[in-house]
Amino acid sequence: MKTIIEPFRIKAVEPIRLTSRRERNDLLEVAHYNPFLLRSDDVIIDLLTDSGTSAMSSAQWSVLMRGDESYAGSPSFRRFQEAVSKLMPFKHIIPTHQGRAAESILFSLVGSEGKAIPSNTHFDTTRSNVEASGAEAHDLVIDEGKDPSCLHPFKGNMDIEKLRRFLEDHKGRVPCVMTTITNNAGGGQPVSMENIRATAELAHAFDSPFIIDACRFAENAYFIKLREPGYENTSVEDIVREIFSYADGMTMSAKKDAFANIGGWLALNDDSLAERARTRLIQIEGFPTYGGLAGRDLEAIAQGLTEIVDEHYLAYRLRTCEYIVERLTELGIPVVLPAGGHAVFVDARAWLPHIPPLQYPGQSAVAALYEIGGIRACEIGTVMFGRKTDGTEEAAAMDLVRLAMPRRVYTQSHADYIVEVFAELNDMKDELVGLEIVEEPQSLRHFTSKFRRLSFHSN
Ligand code: F0G
Repeated sequence: MKTIIEPFRIKAVEPIRLTSRRERNDLLEVAHYNPFLLRSDDVIIDLLTDSGTSAMSSAQWSVLMRGDESYAGSPSFRRFQEAVSKLMPFKHIIPTHQGRAAESILFSLVGSEGKAIPSNTHFDTTRSNVEASGAEAHDLVIDEGKDPSCLHPFKGNMDIEKLRRFLEDHKGRVPCVMTTITNNAGGGQPVSMENIRATAELAHAFDSPFIIDACRFAENAYFIKLREPGYENTSVEDIVREIFSYADGMTMSAKKDAFANIGGWLALNDDSLAERARTRLIQIEGFPTYGGLAGRDLEAIAQGLTEIVDEHYLAYRLRTCEYIVERLTELGIPVVLPAGGHAVFVDARAWLPHIPPLQYPGQSAVAALYEIGGIRACEIGTVMFGRKTDGTEEAAAMDLVRLAMPRRVYTQSHADYIVEVFAELNDMKDELVGLEIVEEPQSLRHFTSKFRRLSFHSN
């Protein structure tokens, strides 16, 4: 059959409150045109993030009751550990309450002043944890990965030549080399197996461990199966195991490709580093057999890991973003191509050229998406990255809008609804106006800034 259906039935439903456009207009004003300040029950389709927003399966809900909440030695931890090592056979698996806690523990141990850590592209919490340790974070993704319209099957790839030069220039100062799969900050684009292997070999040639930020490992593995010659007939599970066979460790957010609403882990092969990581874990998260989690969370993750590598699920998952990208492209709306795994990225600067970057075209689009259709999305552009440490402002490299798809939550008709809202918006896009910030914190301003709509075009 041609139609890729949602490979699940719905047993429990969460009603969506349908608001009117007039109501949303008022709610948006109260939220100061910042969707982070909206109440989630005032949102019709919530695409703010795919993190922690997955629908758990009936099997996951049923194992929650089995959760053993003992402080030490819980069987839930053993089941978690077995499920992780089946896919990622690292020697030490250290549970944390979410991905950034794993990053914080790792970089507090290996990072310090004078050190430098390269990645294809560090996610913002990763970069922030690297920098908090005193080390520098560097992004070395291939040039194609920075061009929204360039079609390349693995736009998340590390630029191997740049990495070689980087390692030569920073000899003895690189405590690890990282790769993020898929490359979230670069549009959810995958990394090829060949590139993962080459990155690992190069890191090892310079005596640096190779660590994978693995949040969306299953989506990345399925892209490899679809796009990399030689893997057409390999199972996703085997592809996953091969990916991690090249690495010395991983950081993970179980809120993504483990179908859990909370959780994460740090995995390592190095005994001495793992011992220090566990000590740090006890200081900030909890005992090594629960980390920052309840026993029931460990059970949900263990079960989720058996479900995420299901290829029917992954086919449906990747098709969702691809479908929306195809429809938006037909409407002439510029999007990051090809479709990524977990999100659709709209190029708001190209779509709304009459709004200058310092009037935030991405934020203007995000506000209009809510007003017209009750859709909540996230600006990734000048609001998020434009404020410099000295308080001045400049345009970010791009002004994007991210529509992140929660896992197993929305259906085909929700996808069609999203496209319809864009179609309506596209017809009136010249009427959209820019915004100005009326209140902002000193950093991470996209979360809490308050905006005002400009009533006329000032350019
Ligand atoms: N690494 C990547 C690539 C991520 O996308 C995230 C989270 C993290 C690490 C941190 O994990 O949230 O469990 O602490 N990304 C979410 C997002 C927040 O919306 O993209 P966490």
